[in-house]
Amino acid sequence: MLVDAINNRRPHGATENTVFGPFHVVGAPEREMGEHISLDGKGESCLFEGRVIDLHGNAVAGARIDVWSDNSDGFYDVQQPGIQPKWNNRGIFTTGADGKYSFVGIKPVSYPIPHDGPVGKMLTELGRHPYRPAHMHFLVTAPGFQKVVTHTFVGDDLYITSDAVFGVKQTLVAPFERVNKGKTIWRSPFDFVLTPVGIDE
Ligand SMILES: [Fe+2]
Repeated sequence: MLVDAINNRRPHGATENTVFGPFHVVGAPEREMGEHISLDGKGESCLFEGRVIDLHGNAVAGARIDVWSDNSDGFYDVQQPGIQPKWNNRGIFTTGADGKYSFVGIKPVSYPIPHDGPVGKMLTELGRHPYRPAHMHFLVTAPGFQKVVTHTFVGDDLYITSDAVFGVKQTLVAPFERVNKGKTIWRSPFDFVLTPVGIDE
């Protein structure tokens, strides 16, 4: 987190980075806007939507939004091969001229990072729990702009102030509003504000 904070300073108003984490997989399916990414039918359905914009609020076309989250049992598909469908809760979306994106996943849940090795031992010695507050991962790229590796967080999560990996930033806490529209229970709006290449804090 410290290295990430030092290396990815952004101007005021731009979307902040947070840790990449070990569970991203290259080559997720490219999907149409509005498509579902949850393939196991578990969890509370959630519409994620918003825009990719520049620092002046202009739409960014051709931005690739690579997303991934755990399932409602708190595991990524790659942790449960043969149990979860491949590419469960993953997908890549590309913005059009309006910069808008939307997809349907689940409201993520908090989960413990693997804590059966030295990291677990360290956490125990420090008196810390291994949980991460619920979050959706995003990797947003667009020509001419700095890559954004980030999450959005569920603000009322039990672990929001004690993330095991210190990844939470206040600006990344996103609304999760109850909508109860058909099968969709939640809506989480969030805009990604990209910084041009070559601009620092
Ligand atoms: Fe994660």
